[in-house]
Amino acid sequence: MQKDQYIGVFDSGIGGISIWKEIIQLLSLESTIYLADSKNAPYGEKSQDEITQLCIKNTEKLIALGAKIIVVACNTATTNSIDYLRANYPIQFIGIEPAIKPAALQSKSKSIGILATKGTLNSRLFSSTSKRYTQEIKTIEVIGTGLVPLIEQGKINSPETRALLTTYLAPMIEANIDYLVLGCSHYPFLLPILKELLPSQVSIIDSGEAVARQTKAILEQKKIIRTEITQPAKHYIYSNGTIDILEDIIVRFRESEQIPLKTVIQVA
Ligand code: SIN
Repeated sequence: MQKDQYIGVFDSGIGGISIWKEIIQLLSLESTIYLADSKNAPYGEKSQDEITQLCIKNTEKLIALGAKIIVVACNTATTNSIDYLRANYPIQFIGIEPAIKPAALQSKSKSIGILATKGTLNSRLFSSTSKRYTQEIKTIEVIGTGLVPLIEQGKINSPETRALLTTYLAPMIEANIDYLVLGCSHYPFLLPILKELLPSQVSIIDSGEAVARQTKAILEQKKIIRTEITQPAKHYIYSNGTIDILEDIIVRFRESEQIPLKTVIQVA
């Protein structure tokens, strides 16, 4: 692998952009390729075999485009298929898992909420992590049915999204949670509404920053991190869905973070 190759990132759609943006902020010299498999979203309702087949397709495309490391920016794909990918491709994979450990360790009310897809909550990896860290903690696990399609359609701040979240958060509020774990990379887009709907003492944890730090650590360990500007970082986003929502997200991100980001968005 060459230092000048790309950090590849894939997700079942636009959700992983929440992870990608942490990566490009922490690793500003690196070039990236983001693959949004929006056509096949949501992964969370598919069988493990179907999810793995889609992950294989995404992995092979990213390798063909020049990835030196692959970030699986999708909880459902990580919990169902990362073991297969690691066993079958000679490239490092970074996954994203619900941040149960920090929530469980920091909870004072001993009650935490986890909002994730059916595929993540039913996976073996999720249940073994949950068992390890939540023995003395009450966990309220809720499947966020319908949220990913609404986010993919750009209906982030819509009455439908609000109504679903109100329903999903009710048992968590009832159980006096003090931490909410976002177990799907699409859900950080819902942060403003979540903050409005949850009592102020509830902290919300997503895994974006942790994934970016882990990516940096592996690049350093494998000695494939870019340490000098040989050429300016380039960012390519490929989507097999509509790109208007992606364009809108990137424009807003560029404005809010005030970073000179050169991004090329293409139809895959
Ligand atoms: C999905 O495609 O259903 C959600 C992606 C995720 O789990 O992060």
